[in-house]
Amino acid sequence: MSLTASELATIVKGALSAIAGAGDLSEIKKVKIEHLGDKSPLAKASQSLGSLPADQKAEFGKVVGAAKSEVNSAFEARVLELEALRDAKVLLEEKVDVTLPAPKISKGGLHPLTILTNEINDLFLGLGYRVAEGPELESEWLNFDALNIPADHPARTMQDTFFVEPLEAKLVLRTHTSPVQIRTMLENKPPIYVICPGRTYRADELDATHTPVFSQVEGLVIDRGITMADLKGTLDYFAQAMFGPEVKTRLRPSFFPFTEPSAEVDFFFNGRWVEWGGCGMVNPKVLQACGIDTEEFSGFAFGMGLERTLMVRHGITDMHDIVEADIRFTQSFGLGGR
Ligand code: PHE
Repeated sequence: MSLTASELATIVKGALSAIAGAGDLSEIKKVKIEHLGDKSPLAKASQSLGSLPADQKAEFGKVVGAAKSEVNSAFEARVLELEALRDAKVLLEEKVDVTLPAPKISKGGLHPLTILTNEINDLFLGLGYRVAEGPELESEWLNFDALNIPADHPARTMQDTFFVEPLEAKLVLRTHTSPVQIRTMLENKPPIYVICPGRTYRADELDATHTPVFSQVEGLVIDRGITMADLKGTLDYFAQAMFGPEVKTRLRPSFFPFTEPSAEVDFFFNGRWVEWGGCGMVNPKVLQACGIDTEEFSGFAFGMGLERTLMVRHGITDMHDIVEADIRFTQSFGLGGR
């Protein structure tokens, strides 16, 4: 016999103490390979049975079998214990303290220009107007020609207008919201009452009072019997809604190719006159180009800058604040209202 009973007992003892000493599931894995694996002393004991004479084989086979099953069941029991230990540890480590304060979630805010645009849209929707929009990349024809701005008009030169390549496509970044007037008149029959807010572009440097990307709001009314008095009344209503019920407006004669007569509109605020925008009666040439019968219909239009409106109303002195949209600036306007 190649292995004595006492040697076998030593092997079993060694295995049992290794099993008892395994502190976690990864340690017990190693113990399994060492003491129950193919190359373990126990496996070797089994293999040695083959070389025993037949009369000893049965007897010693039993002894080895008993030793194996003792080690096996100790192993399985220890695995169960270690699994229970692991589960308890995970439960403890992943415990959630529901009494801890929750992290603060910042709600952000709408950009003040968006808030103002919504406010103006609501105001004019209340007067029965529709909100109309057009593309920021606009055809040169709609941005200039259809508005009676001839090819040699200074507004068309490279200084003011962002022309877009390829130049043959005759596209510009719209320099004002007035092309939306034309789009509206081409697509709808009068009476027309629209308000057109939107982003506009001119080749200006960004400084305290200018920005190359700015916003305008355009108003257009075409109906029977529309006069300058309707224009003035609408501007008063608009200005008072923006700046307070005591605010006055005044019109100063001016020139725009698409209105005749044309005026600049100012409002009186905090003791001074502030320039607000342009306006006038829609030039009959423009109405005719859009297929509107000038015997029956007349109309007015106005357009003003939203940044300027916001700056005056809220005492903002630097355009950078509006352009940069720092969350601290934005939040000072509240989530969605004044
Ligand atoms: N589109 C003009 C501008 O940007 C403003 C304007 C609009 C003038 C409507 C008259 C009528 O300067």
